[in-house]
Amino acid sequence: MSLTQQLSFIQLHSDVASLIIKLAPAPEIIYWGHQLGHLDDAQLSQMAMVVSRAVPQARLDLDVPVSLCPETGRGSYGSPGLEGHHLGQNSTPIFEYDSHTQTGNQVEIRCVDDIAKLELLISLSMDGKTGVVKKSIQLINNNESAYQLNKLVLSLPLPYHAKELESYTGRWSREFQPQRTQLEHGVFTQENRRGRTSHEYFPGCLIGSHAFSEEQGEVWGFHLAWSGNHSWRAEAKSDGRRFVQAGELLFAGEIELAQGDSYTTPELYASYSQKGINGLRKANHGYVREHLLNFDESKPRPVHLNTWEGIYFDHDPDYICEMATQAAQIGVERFIIDDGWFKGRDHDKAALGDWILDRKKYPNGLTPVIEHVNKLGMEFGIWVEPEMFNPDSDLFRAHPDWLLTAEGYATPTGRYQYVLNLQNQDCFDYLYKCLDELLSENNIGYVKWDMNRELVQATHNSRAAVHWQTKAVYRLLDKLVAAHPDVEIESCSSGGGRIDYEILKRTYRFWTSDCNDALERQTIQKNMGIFFPPEVMGAHIGPHHSHTTRRQHDINLRGITALAGHMGVELDPVKESEVEKQAFAKYIALHKQYRHLLHTGDSFYLDSNDKTRHAYGVHNEREALLTVSQLAMPDYMLPEPVRLSILDSESDYKVKLVEYPQSSAGLMKVMPDWVEQDEVVVNGAILKQVGITLPVLDPEACLLIYIERV
Ligand code: GLA
Repeated sequence: MSLTQQLSFIQLHSDVASLIIKLAPAPEIIYWGHQLGHLDDAQLSQMAMVVSRAVPQARLDLDVPVSLCPETGRGSYGSPGLEGHHLGQNSTPIFEYDSHTQTGNQVEIRCVDDIAKLELLISLSMDGKTGVVKKSIQLINNNESAYQLNKLVLSLPLPYHAKELESYTGRWSREFQPQRTQLEHGVFTQENRRGRTSHEYFPGCLIGSHAFSEEQGEVWGFHLAWSGNHSWRAEAKSDGRRFVQAGELLFAGEIELAQGDSYTTPELYASYSQKGINGLRKANHGYVREHLLNFDESKPRPVHLNTWEGIYFDHDPDYICEMATQAAQIGVERFIIDDGWFKGRDHDKAALGDWILDRKKYPNGLTPVIEHVNKLGMEFGIWVEPEMFNPDSDLFRAHPDWLLTAEGYATPTGRYQYVLNLQNQDCFDYLYKCLDELLSENNIGYVKWDMNRELVQATHNSRAAVHWQTKAVYRLLDKLVAAHPDVEIESCSSGGGRIDYEILKRTYRFWTSDCNDALERQTIQKNMGIFFPPEVMGAHIGPHHSHTTRRQHDINLRGITALAGHMGVELDPVKESEVEKQAFAKYIALHKQYRHLLHTGDSFYLDSNDKTRHAYGVHNEREALLTVSQLAMPDYMLPEPVRLSILDSESDYKVKLVEYPQSSAGLMKVMPDWVEQDEVVVNGAILKQVGITLPVLDPEACLLIYIERV
């Protein structure tokens, strides 16, 4: 094979997946799936041979690739990767491969259109361990005419049998609701114009073989790392080829590139699994832990108490200190004062923007409270919502021009508040100063950074500006993190409105949802957990009587559901009964006992024929913890045995029932034999193939099983 032929392919390989790119006539992914191992020249020739396509009748007389940035100009009739123009010209460019540089599993490919004078730098990498692919594109305008960019999105192809798509919709207090659709002829689209990642459309989806499940099927998973507007598309072309496209959704005029200017897309992350959704969990969690998180590994994720649902705006430092005392008694390790601590913040209609302590509520300052919390051995955290101001605030009265809006139009409030224009340097500097002072003057280890409304007509210098506002939020966070590297920040946006990898690069945790109803949480956490490891998923025990759904749940369901994430408590311990408090202490202790496993192991769900239950577990080489949650009345009188496919057939395991709600015990005259004994040793092949029977559970109840290799 000649040198030119050798250079006409790029190979990226990992332990899990492989991706092969053919460079001519335009860079095109010709394979992305199960790992192949490095291909030699002969195998590459074979590959070129077997993937070459027929040119059918009644179409263009040449084969048209779905390239790394599909081009209408080349005759690709699917959705193009790039749309825009130079004052009406060059709307269908053709990018010729120019050159590429490859370092290990990372490649940058340069493609140019010399007529339009546009250049693309396409970056693609594959993580060697997890197989996670990362893609982004930079567009450079070399034309003296300004380029109006309408769209630059990231495309990845899929094989024909990838025909079932799962996406995640939602709303406030109900994030990550899965929906399935068939990808046959035509297009699935999803557009988010809310100016934040959104509750409504999580920027991610799965596409896989027919009826792919937790444990079965071939699946490709996608996530766009971006906290602003986004658009998604999965397209099955009329010739059967199919691809995913994701990118930032740009408003008209939002991005104009002068000569020499460039625009870079957000990063698209994509993973592959041959073992159902569980394979994606493993790949995504491994990748996030290795490349995105900045955790101090010697510090376990501290158990929280957050004051919001306990006291709302009603702050009294003596009472808060009593809450802290009782929090410490049940095992809490980080105490967070939520909304209501700053001047005039007695309700949600005023004071956002005025980041000074309310001396009426805290006449002696914050220090005595912080010292009390610290003396109890807990870290202190505080809530802020920097991107906003209320019309009723000193900040708005002084700087009405800092409002992010289109001049001349009336702007709606949302939760009685406006958005600040962070692109205004004075405004940016003011916010940085407030936050920097707050963190410099107080011993604060943790910030809950909230963002409680959507953007409308976000405009700067008369141009649509969601893009730049989003970038400015990142800049503000980056500056603060650089100045206060020991402070951990949580991303909250009315619960889970800003959950994505780009914000995670600057934060440590998500407030998953404002819904602390454990039954709802089961679904939210399950689906968020496909993309994010449990240690970044804030999960709190809420009150018996849920504030968001009015449903009531026993502590067993609340405790075990919260235990699976980054655990916390969201209530007022002072008002709780002794019995409840002892139960909080018990579940917090269980969480701490298994935290090392929960926060570093591989998460999995078992397929169940009974759709009314979740069987969620975490395992490593040595041990596994399995929670079985009965969400509704079981389909059958006897629960389906759990078959633990993650175990090793060659080993024996000790199995122990750690938690079973006594209220359910009355459902049986006789328990399974293994439950009657304190623990049982069983061969791995038996646990995998035969499974283990379970005691009967009431609806809305959970049990916990611990399994250890002997
Ligand atoms: C949002 C958050 C809540 C709480 C309130 C405070 O709704 O999601 O957790 O912090 O704001 O106003």
